Amino acid sequence: MKKLTYKFSNSSTDYYLAYGISHLKGIVDQKNSVIITDENVYNNHQKRFKNWNVIILKPGEEYKIQGTVDSIIEQLIAMEADRKTILIGVGGGVVTDITGYTASVYMRGIKFGFIPTTLLSMVDASIGGKNGVDVGVYKNLVGTIRQPSFILHDLIFLNTLPQFGWVNGFAEIIKHACIKDAVMFREVEMNSLKKYQGRKTLVCELIQRNAILKTKIVQQDEFEKRDRKLLNFGHTLGHALENQYELSHGQAISIGMTYASHISEQLTGFRETERIVNVLEKFGLPTHAKFDKQKVFDVLKMDKKRARKEINYVLLEKIGKGVIKPIPLNQLEKIIQDL
Ligand SMILES: NC(=O)c1ccc[n+]([C@@H]2O[C@H](COP(=O)([O-])OP(=O)(O)OC[C@H]3O[C@@H](n4cnc5c(N)ncnc54)[C@H](O)[C@@H]3O)[C@@H](O)[C@H]2O)c1
Ligand SMILES: [Zn+2]
Repeated sequence: MKKLTYKFSNSSTDYYLAYGISHLKGIVDQKNSVIITDENVYNNHQKRFKNWNVIILKPGEEYKIQGTVDSIIEQLIAMEADRKTILIGVGGGVVTDITGYTASVYMRGIKFGFIPTTLLSMVDASIGGKNGVDVGVYKNLVGTIRQPSFILHDLIFLNTLPQFGWVNGFAEIIKHACIKDAVMFREVEMNSLKKYQGRKTLVCELIQRNAILKTKIVQQDEFEKRDRKLLNFGHTLGHALENQYELSHGQAISIGMTYASHISEQLTGFRETERIVNVLEKFGLPTHAKFDKQKVFDVLKMDKKRARKEINYVLLEKIGKGVIKPIPLNQLEKIIQDL
């Protein structure tokens, strides 16, 4: 059990790492708290929610929409939630995104905390305060940046995580390694999914290392003016693919990272694409896809990272060192056509 506090520009977040959800009672006032979770998490872990006020959502990305937020707000009103109420998102990235966003707008902002239950949400989605919902094909188009009061990790939730949940989480872990941590890349490269799944201490260390890596990037650039952009490695093309094809987030960004590595070869002289492809494949992630290049390019142009006639693309100089390069749209269109 480890408690750390990280300061952000105008708030701070307590991290309770490797705790149990049973400690929640000591962190918040149970009467003034409302847990938001989804059916899968609730059905698998029902006894952990005993004596808590709970709102249960339908699971899945298709419910990460404004309509779900409206229905939560109606339930909060019925529960007489007020400015002292704290919302606690217990679930994967969909639940934590919706919870953080709802808490940021309900009564102009109430406190919230997260208990992430997927590998991906432990290492990524619950951290950094970006919370929002999708609008049509545009992912996370509407949202807020506001930090949670606390994040609590209870690894017991991973016991019921399906295999695809593990694979998805490793896509973001490999992303972190590619942009910032060559030593971690080497560690992941030498291990396997089975080994991590079988060794609690190994996976616990990996989760903490990734959570802290992302936290430090966010601390230095909370509003994404500079280095936080690096976290979008693989996401520019990845998001465009995810929206149009039936791919999970991890699969989409895995393909996005592979293409970003190829583009890096052309623009930064990067020479380690093969290592990246090998590690992604070792963890069960796809590294190529047949896609309609024009269609994907059209969605990509709408991407939030676009600045006028160029796109800020995250590339690699070497493993462990990501860089942001503005690429003119016409040059990028040609590169994508040639991929
Ligand atoms: N805010 C951010 O900075 C950020 C960063 C990365 C990703 N995200 C968002 O996170 C989402 C993806 O996160 P995710 O992969 O955790 O998705 P998710 O919340 O949809 O969870 C995946 C599935 O696993 C189920 N589940 C969750 N925990 C479980 C458990 N312990 N046992 C069994 N089943 C469980 C869920 O019900 C769901 O069906 C996307 O919407 C993405 O945009 C946000
Ligand atoms: Zn991601």
